[in-house]
Amino acid sequence: YPIFAQQGYENPREATGRIVCANCHLANKPVDIEVPQAVLPDTVFEAVVRIPYDKQLKQVLANGKKGALNVGAVLILPDGFELAPPDRISPELKEKMGNLSFQNYRPDKRNIIVIGPVPGQKYSEIVFPILSPDPATKKDVHFLKYPIYVGGNRGRGQIYPDGSKSNNTVYNATSAGIVSRIVRKEKGGYEITIVDASDGHQVVDIIPPGPELLVSEGESIKLDQPLTSNPNMGGFGQGDAEIVLQDPLRVQGLLFFLASIIFAQVLLVLKKKQFEKVQLYEMNF
Ligand code: HEM
Repeated sequence: YPIFAQQGYENPREATGRIVCANCHLANKPVDIEVPQAVLPDTVFEAVVRIPYDKQLKQVLANGKKGALNVGAVLILPDGFELAPPDRISPELKEKMGNLSFQNYRPDKRNIIVIGPVPGQKYSEIVFPILSPDPATKKDVHFLKYPIYVGGNRGRGQIYPDGSKSNNTVYNATSAGIVSRIVRKEKGGYEITIVDASDGHQVVDIIPPGPELLVSEGESIKLDQPLTSNPNMGGFGQGDAEIVLQDPLRVQGLLFFLASIIFAQVLLVLKKKQFEKVQLYEMNF
């Protein structure tokens, strides 16, 4: 959950560029982000994040039963950019957003926005309403090109914040040896006893309800051999985009420059026409 990242990490993007959700959501799946190429200052625009997956898929839930996948995302904007205040969001944009309530990663980090978990059936495309900053009122913001980073996830994670495994991952043998006993527990899940063939040492591996068993009694297994299948259907992905904070004066300047060129060209043509008249006049028949 994004809250696990908020509690465990000051900054959701590590120095290597990796977004921290990947530490617990181990599978890699695609995400996509779409933003305008350029925005004017103090303007509301939309950032669209897509977290595609097969909607037919079911995943194992914490109780071992099967259920639908949820999605979540974190959006890392340049300093100064933030969630658009509700009174500046147009009705069309409100409709595209649906009933989502976005949150700041930290009260003092308004440029980082998180959402989720929300049902993936409805929100595999998430529209973030963003307000661009105004360099006239914010002195540390400039008219430049900035990067935007996004992390998006569908499905449950593999590791809890305390380091323990969730039931949505593969379980491996903690010892080599022979599987001497498999006990199926009442609430689902297994206790697998492995006896080391050389010294008779026993270990018991406990499998929670969810993953499917791949070994049977009497089988000889190696250390770290998978005891179960990997039930994980989801995965995390990250991406980036670029956005230009555009100075309206620059656009006006460009338009003025283009207009002046057209004007100069017209004058040159007129001058040529005038000169042709002079040439005609000077011709002697
Ligand atoms: C569950 C997103 C960070 C561990 C989920 C779910 C979402 C999600 C959407 C629900 C999936 C479902 O029900 O189908 C994210 C995002 C993160 C993030 C966007 C980063 C901003 C983390 C971190 C950890 C973690 C850092 C580990 C410390 C888990 C686990 C679950 C889970 C264990 C399953 C919980 C359960 O059902 O018991 N996450 N997550 N997540 N996440 Fe994350």
